[in-house]
Amino acid sequence: MGKYRDLLKNVSIFAELDEPGLDDLERLLIPRSYSKDSIIVGHEEEGDSLYIISKGKAKAGLLGESGREVILYLFKPGDFFGEMSLLDDEPRSANVQAVEDTEVLVLKRDSFHRHIREYPQTALSILKEMSRRLRRADGIIGSLALLDVYGRVARLLRELAERDGTETEEGILIRERPTQQDIAAMIGTSRETVSRALSDFARRGFVEMSGRSILLRHNFLRSGEISRSDV
Ligand code: CMP
Repeated sequence: MGKYRDLLKNVSIFAELDEPGLDDLERLLIPRSYSKDSIIVGHEEEGDSLYIISKGKAKAGLLGESGREVILYLFKPGDFFGEMSLLDDEPRSANVQAVEDTEVLVLKRDSFHRHIREYPQTALSILKEMSRRLRRADGIIGSLALLDVYGRVARLLRELAERDGTETEEGILIRERPTQQDIAAMIGTSRETVSRALSDFARRGFVEMSGRSILLRHNFLRSGEISRSDV
């Protein structure tokens, strides 16, 4: 059994692969390291690889001309990115930047195409994950049009809780939430506004914060859409 086996079993797109399929994949993967803040994939650049995070965190994002950033997605170990350019032969749709020191496994274009021809279940799994990401993007487009900033912060916290949270008696605990700046860049607002919304949620007893950890209490998780007037 190869050294990436445990990781690969936790990558959603490879979950359906049998042992020969995993063996095939392990032979094709090349490890690479990126230090915090380095750009792994550059927006508009030509793309020739798919990446799987084995350690660390990275963010997909776009930069406006003013330098303002929009964060599209946060990747953690087991997540993959860079599939879009391999599938449609277009330049990279976004930047992907290491948020901390990050290690990835790289699958080159030819290896990727050869692998999915031989193991079509990987192609189906990628479609499933892309459909999930599109649903999420639809949810964000809806929230930008339909919710105020408090509603958007609340929605994002619930999404993070679902993805990364741990159930406790008092609610769901997110051990390491994104910074206020990153939350702002994910929902199209300023850091100051995020800071105000989080303090108001805490004052209202919806959440409890300590450093980067945040507990979402049951009353917050159970209430429907939240807006500024609820706080
Ligand atoms: P690619 O376009 O090759 O390079 C940038 C990558 O960022 C892209 O492939 C996807 O893997 C990822 N990406 C871009 N937009 C999103 C999004 N909205 N949600 C999740 N991942 C994304």
